[in-house]
Amino acid sequence: MNSAPWPDPWFLPALVRSGPGRIETLFDATRTWGKRGCLVGGQSAIRSGLAARIQALSPPGIRIEPVVHTGGEPTLTQLDELRATLRSARADWVAAVGGGSVMDLAKAAAGLAPSSLTSADAFDGAAIDVDPLPFLAAPTTAGTGSEATVNAVLIHPGNRRKKSIRDPRWMPRCVILDPHLLRGCPPAVVADSGLDALTQAIEAYASRHATPFSDGIALEAARLLNQHVSTVFHGRGTDADRTGLLQGSFLAGWALSLARLGIVHGIAHPLGSLYGIPHGRICAVCLPLALDLNRGPLGKKYDSLCNLFGDDATTAIRKLLKTFDIHSPLDGIDVSPQLNFIVQETLASGSCQANCKTVTREDVLNLLRQLGALVDSNSTPRTSVSHPP
Ligand SMILES: [Fe+2]
Repeated sequence: MNSAPWPDPWFLPALVRSGPGRIETLFDATRTWGKRGCLVGGQSAIRSGLAARIQALSPPGIRIEPVVHTGGEPTLTQLDELRATLRSARADWVAAVGGGSVMDLAKAAAGLAPSSLTSADAFDGAAIDVDPLPFLAAPTTAGTGSEATVNAVLIHPGNRRKKSIRDPRWMPRCVILDPHLLRGCPPAVVADSGLDALTQAIEAYASRHATPFSDGIALEAARLLNQHVSTVFHGRGTDADRTGLLQGSFLAGWALSLARLGIVHGIAHPLGSLYGIPHGRICAVCLPLALDLNRGPLGKKYDSLCNLFGDDATTAIRKLLKTFDIHSPLDGIDVSPQLNFIVQETLASGSCQANCKTVTREDVLNLLRQLGALVDSNSTPRTSVSHPP
């Protein structure tokens, strides 16, 4: 663990509203940001009428351009389209009401709309040369924690590489954590997104960059998520449970931005991108395997996790997977043709390099085998990445 008590630098939104009905304060937050706003929502926000209800709250003189994210994890093509929309609407600010994909897409578009950089150049690491449009995030899942981070995860449609674009100025200016926005969240999404958030909390805690400062945030995130996720999954959740989930997700996002992540997020990106597996689902099935791998290096910190769960931590996560009926999506899948790509992308990722145990090629192969994937490490690797069916 890094013993520095106070990370430097760190960022937070200027305003966080948390509680039932707080979405109605959206236009209070944007009051000084300009008269033209863009409201980006997912398809569920449109179907449920949420986007229309928010738009109806807009004060006189404020023009709102509604945009629907067509779904899936966001690509550079979708980013280009949204940047063009923001420019043609001459948007002064952007609000995202949706899950992690909606927030990441809208955050990146708000960040790059005033820039002359191409999205591909930004994806490849070019320095971002301008301030972003003011950005507000209101999550409808709990979640990726995108509302508490300065990065946006995107997919390159040409080579299926998936990675973050980040800039310190991309922190949302305002975040609204309203449990009413979680009411329509299907149980499978509660499970996948809740376990993504829990993975983020635990990986931040297990990171070699963790500090006592980030540990406090990560443990509180894990406590809140573990306390509330099953109740909400089973449809018995109150607004207090849904608020707890949203707060846990926010704190997990903050923790990861302070301490980074680990092997789960390192391998989740290539596997999710290659095999079309939802991010939360692949994180969920990898989490107990990674905890087991990190058990020794974590030492007393592993015991702290056991105290938090009231059980062996790895066993507790396995029980959650069973409760949510989550199984490995790679069971029986032959990943051999893509093996070199998976290993290279995993080991090269910043997340994997933050893992408390130094991760080797053999660790990655073992993890794939434990997921039930067919792994022939002697097969001839393909030199380019193909798209599995
Ligand atoms: Fe994640």
